[in-house]
Amino acid sequence: MLKSDKKEIYFGIERDKARYFHGRKEELNHFRNLLNESKIKGIGSSFLIQGAPGIGKTALIHECVGIAKKSKWNVVKINIETLSNPTDLFYRITKDSDPKTYIHAQKVDLALWKTELRTKTKEEINYVNEELIKSKPTLLVLDETQNLGIDGAFSNDKKGEIIAFLEKFHNLKTKKGFAFLFAGLSNTKDVLKEFGISRFNSKYSFNLQPLDKESERAIIRDWINEKVKGDEAIEGWIDKITPKTYQWAKHITSYCNAIHNQLQKVKKLSKETLQNVLDEGDYLKKDYYSQRCVGLLREDREILAKLVQTLPNVFTKTQVIDFLSKENSLLETQKFFDFLMVRGIFHLGIDGDFSISMPSFKTWLVEQYGGE
Ligand SMILES: Nc1ncnc2c1ncn2[C@@H]1O[C@H](COP(=O)(O)OP(=O)(O)OP(=O)(O)O)[C@@H](O)[C@H]1O
Ligand SMILES: [Mg+2]
Repeated sequence: MLKSDKKEIYFGIERDKARYFHGRKEELNHFRNLLNESKIKGIGSSFLIQGAPGIGKTALIHECVGIAKKSKWNVVKINIETLSNPTDLFYRITKDSDPKTYIHAQKVDLALWKTELRTKTKEEINYVNEELIKSKPTLLVLDETQNLGIDGAFSNDKKGEIIAFLEKFHNLKTKKGFAFLFAGLSNTKDVLKEFGISRFNSKYSFNLQPLDKESERAIIRDWINEKVKGDEAIEGWIDKITPKTYQWAKHITSYCNAIHNQLQKVKKLSKETLQNVLDEGDYLKKDYYSQRCVGLLREDREILAKLVQTLPNVFTKTQVIDFLSKENSLLETQKFFDFLMVRGIFHLGIDGDFSISMPSFKTWLVEQYGGE
């Protein structure tokens, strides 16, 4: 089993999959079109899902993967190391292949190739990978793409290999269909640009927004219905829960997990159970916020709380750097800024300015570390 596949199945639950998926109709329609278009045009294409932490990128990927699989695409989940590791890519491409597959260019069967892989050169493996990819519709899926941009993550050689890889497949000529599916935080497009992918069709590149109100309600309704079907108090419960979830997928999940736990204990939609759900949900939501801060010492959390109070809704990097350089931070100014980007606390807008990704996180920071 590949290293990154282990985390997908967790106690029998598929971790990437939303238990009750709602919304994102527009994105999914565009994704369907992209798959079709890639076949018609005979050239590779890319789909990009950008968005703040916990907005629902990975769950959306899961739905896209389902669509692609239904249309008989070979879905290959990769990670950033795969981009410069042809052997790893080979295993991933052939994971679900029939071992009797014949690799035309090499005039050998796949099973034999696998056993001889160690004796092959990088060039040979690259060549066969391309053959395999061209032999059927293939979707390469890369989540958390923003990690490509982490300072010092690669040597120059590795970076060169990754650029060559992306360049080759981004424009791959194949009638069978080929597409990349990238997801990541709001700086992902900029990171990809640094790696040579600069052209994204606007139909196929999304800044994921919070869910619509109906989808938010539908998710909560499904979780309650799972435990207590058709109770007339359901809509009233949802009215009390939604002011706390901000249409934010991760927060919705926090309160739905609370619903699951509390209704496990008492299978009744009483006032008291609702209060317990709200309390547990609050706790889980706060825990999520506090995980965003892991790695920042108390002094720097206080500086961050001060910073977010000072900044306007939309701000520039210079404003942040100016503020931080006047504070007595334990972190170097640029490092502090990078931390805020890597954790998705700041959102990079299309005009090159920034905002706070999760408005409710700002409120929490000020409450927690903002002094009196
Ligand atoms: N459209 C949706 N319908 C129902 N549940 C959803 C939906 N989108 C996301 N979720 C659930 O919300 C939670 C957060 O979503 P997800 O992990 O996809 O966010 P993310 O943007 O990938 O977060 P991160 O930035 O941390 O990687 C998950 O439990 C997921 O199953
Ligand atoms: Mg994710």
